[in-house]
Amino acid sequence: MCGIFGYVGSHTASPILLEGLRTLEYRGYDSAGIFIPGSGVVKAVGPIDNLAKKITDTIPGTSGIAHTRWATHGAPTEANAHPHKDQSENVFVVHNGIIENYSLLKESLKVQGITFETDTDTEVLAKLIGVNYHGDLLEAVKSSLQLVQGTYGLAVMSDRDPDKIVVARLGSPLVIGIGKDGHLVASDPSALVSHTKDVVYLNDGDIAVIEKDQYSITTLKGENQNRKAEKIEWDLEEIKKDGYDHYLLKEIMEIPTTVENTIRGRLISDKGRVKLGGLEGYIDKLTSLHRLTITACGSAAYAGEVGRYIFEEYADLPVSVELASEYRYRTSLVDPKSAILAVSQSGETADTLAAIRLAKKQGLNTFGIVNVVGSTIARENDAGVYNHAGPEVSIASTKAVISQVVVMAMMSVLIGRERKMSLETGKEIVQALVELPNAIKNVLEQKSDIEAIAKKYKDYRDFVFMGRNAHFPIALEGALKLKEVTYIHAEGYAGGELKHGPIAMLDKNFPVVAFAPQDHVYEKMVSNIEEIKARGAPVLVIANTGDDQVSRLADDVIYVPRVHSIVQPIVSVIPTYLLAYYIGIAKDLNVDRPRNLTKSVTVE
Ligand code: AGP
Repeated sequence: MCGIFGYVGSHTASPILLEGLRTLEYRGYDSAGIFIPGSGVVKAVGPIDNLAKKITDTIPGTSGIAHTRWATHGAPTEANAHPHKDQSENVFVVHNGIIENYSLLKESLKVQGITFETDTDTEVLAKLIGVNYHGDLLEAVKSSLQLVQGTYGLAVMSDRDPDKIVVARLGSPLVIGIGKDGHLVASDPSALVSHTKDVVYLNDGDIAVIEKDQYSITTLKGENQNRKAEKIEWDLEEIKKDGYDHYLLKEIMEIPTTVENTIRGRLISDKGRVKLGGLEGYIDKLTSLHRLTITACGSAAYAGEVGRYIFEEYADLPVSVELASEYRYRTSLVDPKSAILAVSQSGETADTLAAIRLAKKQGLNTFGIVNVVGSTIARENDAGVYNHAGPEVSIASTKAVISQVVVMAMMSVLIGRERKMSLETGKEIVQALVELPNAIKNVLEQKSDIEAIAKKYKDYRDFVFMGRNAHFPIALEGALKLKEVTYIHAEGYAGGELKHGPIAMLDKNFPVVAFAPQDHVYEKMVSNIEEIKARGAPVLVIANTGDDQVSRLADDVIYVPRVHSIVQPIVSVIPTYLLAYYIGIAKDLNVDRPRNLTKSVTVE
């Protein structure tokens, strides 16, 4: 996600701003920029070094704001990089978050003769503040934010008021640093610790004015806020992991927020519909498809397999899932009334990219679900949906996989409501997505219990993960996570396949992780579990809260809330992520960087 840094003090600002951006690089970004009053804006696409090269000699000025951009609206170009300026080129803004009503605000500004050079939501904010600037920057920001819907961490400066930075927070963290030679502001304390350990965390709704020797905090309504200064206790590495021991755990614990970011601004609750801007212009194409072929690799392919159950049940759309590495080399018979949906977190996976290029040669439209904005797969697709899951640092993908399934659930509403999905069903699914973060939090609250179970199972050498219906791909995903994080052999199986071979392997040394949600195949899963127990294999069941029937059979149970069937697989897979993490920790492995693996398989 984007990084914000600001400084006002006694020293020359440009080297301090650059250093602040470097400490924020871990957050992931694709472009960067700075503004220094009296010297203007410098921006660059790519690493901070590209920006530094443009700042040939030290720019004069002892204050400024800076930004690393993780693109959400608009490709990662220099024009779209922050800071953005107002019409009069007096006000300069850096922003982290999403302005949901930016299109409406943009139209109202255009009526006032304001022009726009970029397709970002942040430029709209800068132009709005400029229109409201009548000499008092704080008042201009306050009156503008009254009109804004969405989330922001914001830093604003005016060329006419160089010794002041106005900052505001709603949904995107900001923290003030109290330095000995000035004050600083950043998205997180990692950029401050080299200057000071004394910080003030802003709360949502706070707006602050930062000057060299003082700062003041109020609400948008002008009520004074007394926020006490705190001492940073963490070291830099701990800060980057938000206090967690590993990025993998941080990203698992972020999943509720990831779901909120994925659905933000995309649900139309009262109509039981969704809005996916990236697919506009292709709605008719999608809703008239005879078939959709989902292609991906690894966990993204398993997300696609869950998507198959979702699209077929809720969008009345036949779907096949093709491993990209197979699709690209197979002589496939193509239905001209079909299309491709490529799922990829990195947007750079070689096999998935090759599959898209083949599909285009076959005359098919290709769509994408991609997390990294501006990535090759995103750019080569006809259209697509960005996950907005933020950067995923751990090689084992978790929050991105959840986000991919959430996007497919939203796509099933987008298509289904143009086909046979009723208003009532649409509303039910939209509501299920709104409630999903809380259901996931319920599972995450059990992490200590899951850690204890992990310690009990860590020395087994083989596992079977077993599920039916949409939980079969969840079994595949759970098995993959265990394999890649702990190096333990694990196989995912459809429950109905047990008696067709794998049951021969089972004994007291071969545990089974069984997904037994109370759905239409629950009784079949209970039978599977009884068969497994009869062979003496240990059974860990992922069951719905309150289900005491299956718990009598299991050696261990992890309870997950019973939710709408479209999102039950998501809630069910979360325990397997924690299981893999804690077994990996218990085996003292590098859970963020497992051996032999890379984050994006850009070679075949
Ligand atoms: C998932 O934990 C793995 N790291 C891997 O299977 C990954 O899902 C696969 O390589 C696809 O990557 P992509 O989503 O970036 O295309």
